[in-house]
Amino acid sequence: MKEKIRILLTEQEVNEQIAKMAARISEDLAGESVHLICVLKGSIFFTCELAKRITVPVTLDFMSVSSYGDGTESSGVVRINKDLDESIAGKNVLVVEDIVDSGRTLSYLMENLGARDPKSLRLCTLLDKPDRRVTNIKVDYTGFEIPDEFVVGYGLDYAQKYRNLPFVGVVEFIEE
Ligand code: IMP
Ligand code: MG
Repeated sequence: MKEKIRILLTEQEVNEQIAKMAARISEDLAGESVHLICVLKGSIFFTCELAKRITVPVTLDFMSVSSYGDGTESSGVVRINKDLDESIAGKNVLVVEDIVDSGRTLSYLMENLGARDPKSLRLCTLLDKPDRRVTNIKVDYTGFEIPDEFVVGYGLDYAQKYRNLPFVGVVEFIEE
């Protein structure tokens, strides 16, 4: 099987949308600062592009989590591979995600972070697949709602590949 990537969102569309999200975040947090939590590895490209466009003071931290599952489905049983370097107590925290799928991983993460006494806790995601949701999770800022297809690029991977594509694409498998 050969893999082909069909473009779903161009680099320009993604960047324009990120600029809008950054403007809204800056407006909502006017006069305050924001502590971005990048959820590794998929959110790294989105976090950089978003952070560059936010106009209130920004600090950054990174977290890495993995969810046990059968490969395509996350289970909600989450392991923290890398925790934050700094305390989030008293900070306006914004969790930056690449994609919300079932919502199981984030549901755990938001509860875990909420217990650490932040001043406020918000969630932003570049992509959302609402049809796949099994948990009740509030997303404050969504870039794009997309259909239930497996996407790569802009940080997202298929078997660790394609993270560096500057656009979001759907993986298609073709017979050779
Ligand atoms: P959830 O717990 O089901 O919401 O899992 C979310 C995680 O699954 C994301 O952070 C991604 O790492 C991964 N994921 C879900 N859908 C896709 C996709 O279409 N492409 C790449 N990774 C995905
Ligand atoms: Mg992720």
